[in-house]
Amino acid sequence: MQIMKIYKVLPDLSKKRHMSIWHKALRAQWSADDLNWSAPLRLTSDKTLSSLARILTPILMGEQAALYSVSGLIPILGHNSEVESQLYLTTWAVDEARHTELFTLFYNRIAREPLPIRRFPSGYMFQSSIVSQEPAEWLAGVLVSECLAKLAMEEFKRLDVDPVLSEISRGILEDEARHLAFNHIYLEDRFSQYFRKDLKEGESFSDRLRTRLKGVLSNVPSIFDTLEPDLKELGIDRHEMQQRLADDAMTRLNRSVEAGANMAKGAIASDEAARAERGALAGAM
Ligand SMILES: [Fe+2]
Ligand SMILES: [Fe+2]
Repeated sequence: MQIMKIYKVLPDLSKKRHMSIWHKALRAQWSADDLNWSAPLRLTSDKTLSSLARILTPILMGEQAALYSVSGLIPILGHNSEVESQLYLTTWAVDEARHTELFTLFYNRIAREPLPIRRFPSGYMFQSSIVSQEPAEWLAGVLVSECLAKLAMEEFKRLDVDPVLSEISRGILEDEARHLAFNHIYLEDRFSQYFRKDLKEGESFSDRLRTRLKGVLSNVPSIFDTLEPDLKELGIDRHEMQQRLADDAMTRLNRSVEAGANMAKGAIASDEAARAERGALAGAM
């Protein structure tokens, strides 16, 4: 059993960017009730509606899986005394809870059900490959799922097949932008800690997370294999989407690595400058 780390010392709230994204997330909350669910369904083709229901399956799975993972990581971050991240994750959990509710309501709206898991094992495998108790490892994996959600929501906004789905997409895109921003802030910080210790540790931690991301990505093609006819029906090009997903996720992770390495360089340089200054002062006395 984990020991609760509470009331020992006041939480350290010194990480400015973590705190600012947490405040931003608090102010940006919204609810399924804010949407106009009475807008008439524009889609009438039975075939297209069934395709849409199948396409949204991995999205709903992703929302539910994210709700599980985020909720599970909140006590872990507390245990690591990463309080600023712990605070932010409480809003991330609310976001994923809202998304889960939104898609459930949307399935009701179109009177369809998602694909059952036995007919969609690849979706389940993909989500299971993301699970980790280590926040950085989880973030590197979940980057793929978050980027996939972002790309899918952008497609639905572009296609505008249903007024409610377009509204959902717009709202989720704003939430996803925060999740991706936090992913960067947290990983950059962790990378910088490793790079500060020494270059090799930074490199091997980065490689470990890149390997993890690639592992999660390798589960994506079989999802698209299952959904290819449905994606075609809706006018979505699977190959283009798959490529964009791979590029987007890896570019983002690499950006966090680079930013972390630069942050560490800056910190090392300012440590050295401070040491030199202290040395000069001691010499002058
Ligand atoms: Fe989500
Ligand atoms: Fe998300």
